[in-house]
Amino acid sequence: MKQQNIRNFSIIAHIDHGKSTLADRLLEETGALTDREKTDQFLDKMELERERGITIKAQAVCLNYRADNGQNYILNLIDTPGHVDFTYEVSRSLMACEGALLVVDASQGVEAQTLANVYLAIDADLEIVPVLNKVDLPGAEPERVKEEIEEIIGLDTSDTIAASAKEGIGIHEILESIVRKVPAPKGDPQAPLQALVFDSWYDSYQGVIVLVRIVAGTLKKGDKFLFMASRRSYEVLKLGVFAPHPLERAELQAGEVGFLIAGIKVVKDAKVGDTITHLHQPAQQALPGFKEVKPMVFSGLYPIDSSEYDLLRDALEKLQLNDSSISFEPENSVALGFGFRCGFLGLLHMEIVQERLEREFGIDLITTAPTVVYRVTTIKGEELRVDSANKLPDIQYIDCIEEPFILASIHVPNEFVGTVLALCEEKRGVQREIRYLTASRVMIVYELPLNEIVLDFYDRLKSITRGYASLDYEHLDYRPSPLLRMNVLINGDSVDALSLIVHRDKAQARGRELVAKMKEFIPRQQYVVAIQAAIGGKIIARETVKALRKDVTAKCYGGDISRKRKLLEKQKEGKKRMKQIGSVELPQEAFLAILKVK
Ligand code: GTP
Repeated sequence: MKQQNIRNFSIIAHIDHGKSTLADRLLEETGALTDREKTDQFLDKMELERERGITIKAQAVCLNYRADNGQNYILNLIDTPGHVDFTYEVSRSLMACEGALLVVDASQGVEAQTLANVYLAIDADLEIVPVLNKVDLPGAEPERVKEEIEEIIGLDTSDTIAASAKEGIGIHEILESIVRKVPAPKGDPQAPLQALVFDSWYDSYQGVIVLVRIVAGTLKKGDKFLFMASRRSYEVLKLGVFAPHPLERAELQAGEVGFLIAGIKVVKDAKVGDTITHLHQPAQQALPGFKEVKPMVFSGLYPIDSSEYDLLRDALEKLQLNDSSISFEPENSVALGFGFRCGFLGLLHMEIVQERLEREFGIDLITTAPTVVYRVTTIKGEELRVDSANKLPDIQYIDCIEEPFILASIHVPNEFVGTVLALCEEKRGVQREIRYLTASRVMIVYELPLNEIVLDFYDRLKSITRGYASLDYEHLDYRPSPLLRMNVLINGDSVDALSLIVHRDKAQARGRELVAKMKEFIPRQQYVVAIQAAIGGKIIARETVKALRKDVTAKCYGGDISRKRKLLEKQKEGKKRMKQIGSVELPQEAFLAILKVK
């Protein structure tokens, strides 16, 4: 296909504004789906995604479209993930496109996450085609939302398309707009090869499947090629496009989008953002913007049944084949035994991984409270990365602790401004900007410690704004902070898996609330359970879970006092032993109690 007849585009939308439904309609309209497939959302591949309604894997679908002008076009739809945890992947997918549909729910309006992605698209010089979806809803306010798009994003909305992905309204118009407005790709097919990797995943039959956009040159079956960042070389075994079922091709040329298979065993070799070039006639330069994505949030994962440790390691290895952003290393806890310290892109990513481990691999887990990575300089001048409270050196060895800060953009209707500001202040935020985007919508920008966001910020934000706020963030820098380790003692024994890193000014309040929350979660047992929070040697809070008093003498009717005494002694001993080995039964909720603390 000639370059003039190719269009590469993606869909930018806030979660639930109808991206997947619209994508399916486009597939349907261009004849890419069979009747049976129409019943399902085809682009959301994993079962888990469908249940959570979140699109995680970006995919590319090649659509054949005969336009009203009588010409045939290839439209490559590149699907992007829609959550803050996956911003880098979104940016790479957008780099593979010349245009984007901006889908906005006509009954809701522009949300922070949509904005972040629109800005990414504008930075990547994409042509943006606004689409108002869900115009079938009685609450749709297309005029108001159009004004918002103009005011907030500064896009011309004069030929915005009114659509309903659900009812199939406006779909033909969208396809025509893509052909008319999105520029055709450029790039010399004879030039040295530069192909952008914008997605890759592991398939147990084929090995890693790599999605590429050929930016310059031509890639053929049998070619030997090099990943310029990972420096790994392979030979193309298969090339093709998803239409949406895989169709093999002999070559892919500049401007085209497709997949390649080369017997690659791990996703790590084919990282998103890497550039592919020919091994023997390589391009001078890699495409710009490759970034190593690093885990931001860490937590300990421990099998409840310690015999499942090997199973957990295998499962993590399998997940990592497919997701190079997960990291894990063995970790030992006195309280929980053998497990792993795992790193994730963010909280959502963490939840997804946990759920997959439990559901797909059948492993019951205890998860410890998530933490960010701190930078610690010791008095000897060593720099440490600390991703767990237990790795924090004793205070006398620490010269300085720094914590990561983010820049958060929060969009809210103006009636919630006061409560959101109060929340940000409570979370040690530094205000940057409050901007009235329209008469009724406000963007609040704060510098916040990531540590606070990781805990419960998002849930609190949603609840105080009745779900109307949206949040987006980017990483800023590291800043020195007076941070301390807080230990939690159960019946006098410090439980390593419960230790936390807290801000000095918050330690008292956090400690008190934490033990109170834990008390709610720990069921009454045969003996008293004392829960204490301590900083260094100082106890700062205490709660007690009363014993379930079982009267073991109740069954000893009659007067044999020595027998009674014997039983009582035994019970006391039992109590003591339990205390000594610290086998208090702590439920999972107790380990994550900090997430429930304000
Ligand atoms: P993520 O995959 O989570 O990013 O969401 P999405 O943007 O792909 O949204 P999805 O297509 O899953 O749609 C969200 C909900 O809106 C679903 O319940 C759809 O049925 C519904 N929906 C989508 N388009 C329309 C529409 O045009 N009108 C109405 N009334 N509902 C729609």
